[in-house]
Amino acid sequence: MAASSSLKFLLADFASGSPFIPSKYIRPVGDRPELDGVENSGEAIPVIDLSGLNGPDRHKVVTEIGMACKNAGFFKVKRHGIPKEVLHRMLHASKAFFHLPESVRLKNYSDDPTKSTRLSTSFNIATEKLSSWRDYLRLHCHPIESFINEWPSQPPSFKPAAADYASHVRCLALRLLNAISESLNLKSGYLESALGRHAQHMAINYYPQCPQPELTYGLPGHKDPNVITILMQDGVSGLQVMRDGKWVAVQAEAGELVVNVGDQLQVLSNGRYKSVLHRAVVNKDMERLSVPMFYCPGPETVVEAAEELVDEEHPRLYKKFTYGDYTDKFWKGGLRMESCLDLFRESE
Ligand code: OGA
Ligand code: NI
Repeated sequence: MAASSSLKFLLADFASGSPFIPSKYIRPVGDRPELDGVENSGEAIPVIDLSGLNGPDRHKVVTEIGMACKNAGFFKVKRHGIPKEVLHRMLHASKAFFHLPESVRLKNYSDDPTKSTRLSTSFNIATEKLSSWRDYLRLHCHPIESFINEWPSQPPSFKPAAADYASHVRCLALRLLNAISESLNLKSGYLESALGRHAQHMAINYYPQCPQPELTYGLPGHKDPNVITILMQDGVSGLQVMRDGKWVAVQAEAGELVVNVGDQLQVLSNGRYKSVLHRAVVNKDMERLSVPMFYCPGPETVVEAAEELVDEEHPRLYKKFTYGDYTDKFWKGGLRMESCLDLFRESE
């Protein structure tokens, strides 16, 4: 028998049973979720109906999207064009993956953030001091043919469900990027071409039930490093967003997706649109699953503000960098309240 057979790598495999969480998950006083003090986001995170994007109302919807990117950095979308069955099959296959026996799941385990398919836990266990109450599977998914062979082969429903979901979300991401370009008074295809060779990374976050949710996070406050994120949730709420200096809870509604501005859109828009702090809290009663899709530039793409958005009144805020440099710093830095963007700020 292998000596390591009793070692538990993943949270899901040692989480159940004890009424206490291990000390490495306990956040210091002052950095805890205050679960009772957080209000629902209400109108602060608008719901935008995307059905109007393909008709005479396009301009109105584009304006709504632009306002949301500017004011909240977050919005929800409904009538987004992804069929319910596609969402459902993805959630179902993802749950089935995380419910597989440990030995089957562990075939995909790796702590190396540069690997294109990997199952891991917390955020980056190689560099972090405190752990987060999360296991996650990360998959590169564009172009699908380059990566699908690496994806988990169990359960058998997983690959087809994830491939179908990934291609639908990519179409939605491109529609949103066009609308966002227009909302910045740029050509519709501006952002799409500024990303160079596109990349698309999906995560499946699995947050087991937690006996002491008031002491820890599923994910602590962070900003997403990519361009835009499109998040699907399983109906259990847990996402919180920073709004006017206060955390607000975003309710998970079936069929709706949550979209947020990432750091690269903040750079490309020269600060017009904001990448906003958000976090995930966990709960005692229910496990939770969320599927963010991070739409990204290719690693070699040089990211910089659109010329049209730089002038005397709006000086360039960030130095040029390649997205690969950016993500290196992001993974090494760990999740922290300050943004990785501060490292690339232009000096006065
Ligand atoms: C993320 C994230 C939020 C959630 O994975 O970057 O912010 O609700 N997830 O799981
Ligand atoms: Ni995030």
